[in-house]
Amino acid sequence: MAVENSNLVPNTSWLNLPSLNLAIRSLFTGYLLAVGLGALLASAQILMTHGLADGNLGLSIDDIVYSYHGDPANSKIETKLKGSMRDKASSADKLKIIKWVRAGAPETQWNENIKEVFYTNCISCHSVIPGLPDFTQYQNVKQVTKIDEGASATSLTRISHIHIFAISFIFFFNGIIFSLSIGINQWVKAALVFLPFIFLIVDVFSWWLTKITPDFAWVTIVSGIGYSLCSAIIWFVSMYQMWILPNKRKRFQVNAWAE
Ligand code: HEC
Repeated sequence: MAVENSNLVPNTSWLNLPSLNLAIRSLFTGYLLAVGLGALLASAQILMTHGLADGNLGLSIDDIVYSYHGDPANSKIETKLKGSMRDKASSADKLKIIKWVRAGAPETQWNENIKEVFYTNCISCHSVIPGLPDFTQYQNVKQVTKIDEGASATSLTRISHIHIFAISFIFFFNGIIFSLSIGINQWVKAALVFLPFIFLIVDVFSWWLTKITPDFAWVTIVSGIGYSLCSAIIWFVSMYQMWILPNKRKRFQVNAWAE
């Protein structure tokens, strides 16, 4: 039966984090714990994959550039000839190889005189040691002469949409919980729940920009720091208001969702 009485104001003054009952606080807390652990694991994974892209531990602008933009100045073979394969051929032979690689590693030249250079210097290992590419075959050499193009458009499209969908949900639930907090200026609150979505979009956009030009790698770092910071504040304030505030035996007569 509907109650027709304009004086009867629904009592929603309990609608704030410290006043929630045990069940809903437990639900929110379980979610925040799991998502917090997920964020730590994600950070570890970023450090282990992107963090090592430039050969040094720790995330730097170079890591972002190598991961998304690649290193168009260098093919794998060139990097190796300046690195661990440095002493495997004379400077003259290395130069021959590099010139050929930069000319696009054509098969005609391979047959003419490049093959010999590899036969003299490289195949004593690169045809016998299991796991090493067999350099008696042109196809295998060709593989390592390709320039490093960074992330492919296909893989970027895949991770972009997964990233946006999945993380939007996380930010949405974080925001719902945090919207029930009390004692925080409503503009600050609105910014903390809204900005992570903007950072997320900018983050994914910056991957594509970085793929095109390395100048945008810093945007990836700044947006990542941006949403991590917002999420950390949301996480700690929500936990504090659910579990520490109520213990102070105060009543909070606030409807956190009302204007
Ligand atoms: C004494 C043995 C030996 C000789 C000679 C040798 N290599 Fe290697 N090469 C290796 C080993 C071992 C590795 C794997 C470890 C590494 O990457 O440093 C390797 C790796 C490489 C790789 C990376 C392969 C990949 O897919 O990761 C390239 C490219 C390469 N060598 C090029 C050359 C060239 C060009 C020459 C001749 C100028 C040469 N190597 C001569 C032992 C050799």
